[in-house]
Amino acid sequence: MTFPLAVLVSGGGSNLQSILDKIDSGALPAEVRLVLSNKADAHGLERARGKGIPAVALPHTGFPSRLAFDQEMVRIIREHGVDEDRGAVALAGFMRMLTPEFLRAFPRRVVNIHPALLPSFPGTHGARDAADYGVRLAGCTVHFVDEIMDHGPVIIQAAVPALPALSGEGGEALAARILRLEHCVYPQALCWLAQGRLRIQGRHVLVEGAAPASLGAPDSPHIVSPGLEPGFFPAQDSA
Ligand code: GRF
Repeated sequence: MTFPLAVLVSGGGSNLQSILDKIDSGALPAEVRLVLSNKADAHGLERARGKGIPAVALPHTGFPSRLAFDQEMVRIIREHGVDEDRGAVALAGFMRMLTPEFLRAFPRRVVNIHPALLPSFPGTHGARDAADYGVRLAGCTVHFVDEIMDHGPVIIQAAVPALPALSGEGGEALAARILRLEHCVYPQALCWLAQGRLRIQGRHVLVEGAAPASLGAPDSPHIVSPGLEPGFFPAQDSA
């Protein structure tokens, strides 16, 4: 049976698209059973509908409490085949904190992508905050979700050189470069999860059989740890 995924989005859904593309290419042995958004106009919902995937708009504003909203999300997600024993919930630009009740419904099965090298620059503007700070290495992180924002055990990180603002590259351009890597590392992390290759020990995640790191081409330098596997490299790289 393929690994069922529920993907939660609030916006454009480019990470959702990368997941769908890697499923189509055969690299990611999973099936998106549901795309759910707290924003009715999220483009991610359109992407799902275009592929015949159930797309549910569930505006959080219609609920009396955070708990009531999360309980309804849990109900809908279970209805689509993801539960405490099966599949995973992938947050892909979902701009809401989840309650402990939600996380208890899918133990060790909720993952998130963040556009910064955690624990630096958590929060809603990770890439921009890193650029404003003047870091020389920026990147992204896929992690299990716990009750603290952008905090759970790290599965994979990718780092890119950040050009100083003086060179003309602002936060948006840096975020775009990071986003291109997000589209590789998130499907890769979900693949490991689907293959049952992730072991969590406290804050540490062991990825069974993974290479320590992979490097990007000279004209798009980056380092990814653990290493990307065939099928997940950025288009311009060779492997
Ligand atoms: C990404 O930068 C992701 O890291 C962050 O939100 C953004 C979502 O972008 N959590 P998209 O909707 O997947 O295009």
